[in-house]
Amino acid sequence: MAKQTVLVTGGAGYIGSHTIVELLANNNYDVISADCFFNSSPKAYTQIEQITGKKIKSYNIDLCDEKAFDKIFAENKIDGVIHFAAFKAVGESVEHPLKYYHNNIASLVNLLSLCEKHKVQNVIFSSSCSVYGNVQKLPVDENTPMPKAESPYAYTKQIGESMLEDFCKQHTTFNAIALRYFNPVGSHISAKIGEWPLGKPNNLVPLITGTAIGKYPQLTVLGGDYPTRDGTCIRDYIHVTDIATAHVLALNYLLEHKNKSNYDVYNLGSGNGVSVLEAIAAFEKVSGKKLNYKIGDRRPGDVIAVYSDSSKVQNTLGWKCEHDIDSMMKTAWEWEVYRTQNNF
Ligand SMILES: NC(=O)c1ccc[n+]([C@@H]2O[C@H](COP(=O)([O-])OP(=O)(O)OC[C@H]3O[C@@H](n4cnc5c(N)ncnc54)[C@H](O)[C@@H]3O)[C@@H](O)[C@H]2O)c1
Repeated sequence: MAKQTVLVTGGAGYIGSHTIVELLANNNYDVISADCFFNSSPKAYTQIEQITGKKIKSYNIDLCDEKAFDKIFAENKIDGVIHFAAFKAVGESVEHPLKYYHNNIASLVNLLSLCEKHKVQNVIFSSSCSVYGNVQKLPVDENTPMPKAESPYAYTKQIGESMLEDFCKQHTTFNAIALRYFNPVGSHISAKIGEWPLGKPNNLVPLITGTAIGKYPQLTVLGGDYPTRDGTCIRDYIHVTDIATAHVLALNYLLEHKNKSNYDVYNLGSGNGVSVLEAIAAFEKVSGKKLNYKIGDRRPGDVIAVYSDSSKVQNTLGWKCEHDIDSMMKTAWEWEVYRTQNNF
């Protein structure tokens, strides 16, 4: 395959930055990032350069601004897009639904309109296991029906998938894959990039590592009375590098015309359900640190338990999950130590 150009939206963010590293390691791709640093910093690009030795082209634009977004397509010949840019905090989406509907939907409408205009035919979309809501049967596979979404955030992912499916029906030469991530955690093995939210994080692992390093006095476990084996929520944690490699495989698959259908969805999870207390225990084991935590109230919008059947992505794209929960916690901790030492 000749060298291809990939536009990565949200490339300065957590999963976007790790995916750029994997795309550059692949050597078949030139990467352009579009991000306006709502939840990230341009320093992510310097860190990517340190890891890969490669400088990427980047645009500081809000994807909801269609005119600014159009400039990227006008100035570059793009072969495929990986669309990460979105707001992602479930709790915040319950408090500020319109902020989520506006950003997550308008950016995708603009992306698809511009793909149509500039004849870009391959898109990978960041979806989420939150589309499944509170499921009756575990593990969850791609045929599990989607109920009414538990949060505005989850609804933006359901809408995003429907938009892609409808667009693909009308544009038979356009190809899209939606990857439904379970719970991405951990960081690159170099510890030079990782989860780097602006302000206090909303996700469990940066709260664990941030508490252990002394940024936050105590971790509050959100609910200890769920009907699970230890009363805390169960999630399918997956290493961010495993998520990143799946994107490279999915993109290769589309660009090499291996897809039989022009729209498809895949779960991306490890297949293992881990409770919040088990995640804390894994962290304490690999870091040698005792975590100060208490059990608090449930958070609106959180589902009780979810973990994946990821056999479809394994069988079709040849993807394999390489990292276990210990490796996820170890790399997350190494990143926390690195970013604290370097004042990030
Ligand atoms: N991290 C998770 O737990 C998780 C789980 C499932 C799905 N996802 C999805 O994966 C994608 C990436 O998540 P992440 O964890 O890397 O989040 P992130 O917040 O670290 O990265 C998203 C990036 O997109 C940028 N962005 C957001 N809106 C933008 C806009 N309008 N214009 C330009 N840039 C914009 C942000 O500045 C940020 O750098 C999101 O779509 C998210 O919903 C994440």
